[in-house]
Amino acid sequence: MKVIAIMNQKGGVGKTTTTLNLAHALAIQGKNVLTLDMDPQGHLSSCFAVDTYNSSGMDEVLIDDKSIQDTFLNVRENLFLVPAGARLGELETKVQEGKNKGYRLTEALASLKADNSTLSKEAQLDYIFVDCPPASGLLAMNAILACDELIVPVTGDYLALQGLSRLIKVVSHIEQTLQRSTKKWFVLTRFQKQRKLANQIREKMVGYFPNQVFETAIRENVSLAESPGFSKTIFEYKPKSNGAEDYQNLAIDLLEQRTFH
Ligand SMILES: Nc1ncnc2c1ncn2[C@@H]1O[C@H](COP(=O)(O)OP(=O)(O)O)[C@@H](O)[C@H]1O
Ligand SMILES: [Mg+2]
Repeated sequence: MKVIAIMNQKGGVGKTTTTLNLAHALAIQGKNVLTLDMDPQGHLSSCFAVDTYNSSGMDEVLIDDKSIQDTFLNVRENLFLVPAGARLGELETKVQEGKNKGYRLTEALASLKADNSTLSKEAQLDYIFVDCPPASGLLAMNAILACDELIVPVTGDYLALQGLSRLIKVVSHIEQTLQRSTKKWFVLTRFQKQRKLANQIREKMVGYFPNQVFETAIRENVSLAESPGFSKTIFEYKPKSNGAEDYQNLAIDLLEQRTFH
């Protein structure tokens, strides 16, 4: 079971879109996938038509120590969701200071991992995707500490690169403190192939992060923006769209560790 956080403190870069559609692409291929909505705004939950304000979710897991196993919903074949829950934002403000504040997700996942290993191979979870909020506070910290790998969606503009260096600094600081390193992947999103700038950004990214930029860039595609309005993933809404093709290829990139050269 691999835990992958989809992270970037910048909003609107495609974290939720990537969590939703990459998770569904893998579920369609027969993998068992759990998604965790770690954004208090609950966008991922809404994409699955789950009303986050009337659901138990990550708020109870992280604040009240409820188990993930008691909270997840089966949203599609092979695909599960823990909604954000109405009180998730309170973790940043109301939860008492404490040494373990950053490790709540790690602890919840440890119990899930133990349970998972007792299941039959077919029933075991293969992937957990954590959809992070557009911030670098305690929720993101919990995700960094709990994950095996990070996927960072990046859009093709210069400000995106600026924000990225900050994110990398935060992550490396944590890595140094903990003396471990987390595998980092980057995916270009909202990519406009005909734009010189987008291609320049891709070249720069590959220069900075060799063998870490996924081969597939997710093209700008209106169907990806429309599908949540119908509570559908791209594979249900427009299976022949560029968006569906790109997320299916991204799933193969992840499975085969395929990167852009
Ligand atoms: N490749 C894409 N093409 C077109 N629209 C996209 C694409 N990726 C994301 N969007 C749209 O951009 C907005 C922000 O994406 P979202 O996934 O919510 O970003 P984040 O979770 O990083 O804030 C949403 O309205 C989404 O539908
Ligand atoms: Mg989001």
